[in-house]
Amino acid sequence: MKNYFKQLLAKDLEKILSIKQAEIYKFLEYPKDETMADLALPCFASAKANGVKPQDCANAVVEVFKSKNFTASAVGGFVNFKINPAAFDTFLQSVLDDKNLTIQKEKKKTIIMDAGGANVAKELHMGHLRSPIIGEALKRLYRVFGHKVISDVHLGDWGLQMGLTILQIEIEKKSLKNIKEEEITLDFLNEVYPKASAKAKVDEAFRKKAEDYTVRIQKKQEPYYEAYRIIHRASLKDIRKNYDNLFVEFELWLGESDAEAYTDYIIDYLIKKGVTKEENGTLIVEVKKEGEHILKPKTNPTDKDEYLNPMPPLILKKANEGVLYATTDLATIYQRIKDYKPDEMIYVVDERQRMHFEQVFRTADKAGLFPRDKMLHVGFGTINGTDGKPFKTRGGNTVKLNLVVEEAIEKAEARLKENDVGVALERDPQAMRELAHKIAISAIKFGDLSNTVKKDYVLDFDKFLSFEGKTGPYLLYTVARINSILEKAVGVAPKSDPKFQIEIATHEVAMQVVKLIDSFYLSLKENTLSHICQQAFNLAKAFSGFYAATNILKEKDEKKKQGYIQLCRLTKKCLEFTLDTLAMPTVQKM
Ligand code: ARG
Repeated sequence: MKNYFKQLLAKDLEKILSIKQAEIYKFLEYPKDETMADLALPCFASAKANGVKPQDCANAVVEVFKSKNFTASAVGGFVNFKINPAAFDTFLQSVLDDKNLTIQKEKKKTIIMDAGGANVAKELHMGHLRSPIIGEALKRLYRVFGHKVISDVHLGDWGLQMGLTILQIEIEKKSLKNIKEEEITLDFLNEVYPKASAKAKVDEAFRKKAEDYTVRIQKKQEPYYEAYRIIHRASLKDIRKNYDNLFVEFELWLGESDAEAYTDYIIDYLIKKGVTKEENGTLIVEVKKEGEHILKPKTNPTDKDEYLNPMPPLILKKANEGVLYATTDLATIYQRIKDYKPDEMIYVVDERQRMHFEQVFRTADKAGLFPRDKMLHVGFGTINGTDGKPFKTRGGNTVKLNLVVEEAIEKAEARLKENDVGVALERDPQAMRELAHKIAISAIKFGDLSNTVKKDYVLDFDKFLSFEGKTGPYLLYTVARINSILEKAVGVAPKSDPKFQIEIATHEVAMQVVKLIDSFYLSLKENTLSHICQQAFNLAKAFSGFYAATNILKEKDEKKKQGYIQLCRLTKKCLEFTLDTLAMPTVQKM
């Protein structure tokens, strides 16, 4: 983790403590009471090792400490350091001048980001909301660190839902030959699949026939395959629209059906590598480890922890059955290696699929296809309603994704109408909707990403859409407020870069900039955007404090005024960079 001030300070301290810079760096921390100092060095461990009192140890350090960047004092076993204004100024200016906020790039890796996971012929619902949001943000975060990230939507387009849908259409249209592409609308599909799925649960013969149709599609038999292509096209239109509405992009629009060409190959490959076993006609791969216990996937977040012991084998091929989920995932891994030569693969998929991925990753590793430690499942928790239970309609059904977004847009519009910008926009409904859309998405995304990925969270629109507090709209609002200050400040540009004025209110903003940069490193390390969200909020809050305490544009001292404006520019830049990384839209005014 590269913290500019910790590095500087470690260098200064190295001269007087006979400890390596990198070691000192690790010891340095932010003091609990931020008004006391900017950084602190706890002396307890080294005092103990040397048999002296921590306070004496801290005093001894202060006595010999010399630096042009920091002032030191000893308090209760800590050496407290304050960053000098000139050092702050150099740092803040470098952040403002650097495209990447001084965040250092790593050695470039190629990473496949498997996210989205929409299923063809089925409607996108609430359960599909987190994967694209987290996937898009993680993709951008890895790019900040210099990596090449290719995201793949990995459509679920090769399973039983195809057979079910086509069988049902055949029944309704009398024959598949009667299908007209223009009749296969989304509304039509939205009726067909649930009907077929419900029937298959009670009608064994219907289900068997749908399974048979699925195999026919997978063998590209007509007219089943042509019907499948038509449905595929119709669903894709809807899926694209949903992701566009979320401001999410994919480089690859591949799916399970694209890996199909490699399933025979991968099965052969695994057999040749000697990792498979046949059990009652089923081809399996043993992936359990000696003495291991694994957590059983939970159906309800409130379920008690239960362990599966040992880990069940991966099922590669059942007698007489079409392709299985795990087989497709292994074929996809092969395809990705062949086409993109990735260094790593990241899967952003529901936490409840943990065991599936563990089985797939272990199989790939066991067969020498791809190393286990280069495959990561970023498993996310469930979205709950305000009642604390999984988000459902009143009737207990899953909620369609586009309706969730629509509801957020309507609520954002209502909020907007409470202020001047909204009132002014009432004559321009299209502009109003565009603005409300951006605010809605920022609310949904921040509400999601500000939680640790693994955690379940409660989707509460009234909270998420508030313009005050730890929300997406608050961040947008802070940027919009800075935009208006900067607009009014036009024409007073100084000849050279003004110095940042480090005083009580501005110091807090400056410190939050330092911590925001830290949070990028931490979020990358833990594959969760929550640290960045928290810090972006802290920065926005510190800025609001500064704004409330300072009359920026009416400041009489010209030098100070320019310094304040410079801090506005810096805050804007940091927040916009962060919002861009999180794939949250920004707005000029709100
Ligand atoms: N379509 C799957 C689902 O709805 C998610 C796909 C996740 N990605 C993968 N490579 N298995 O559950």
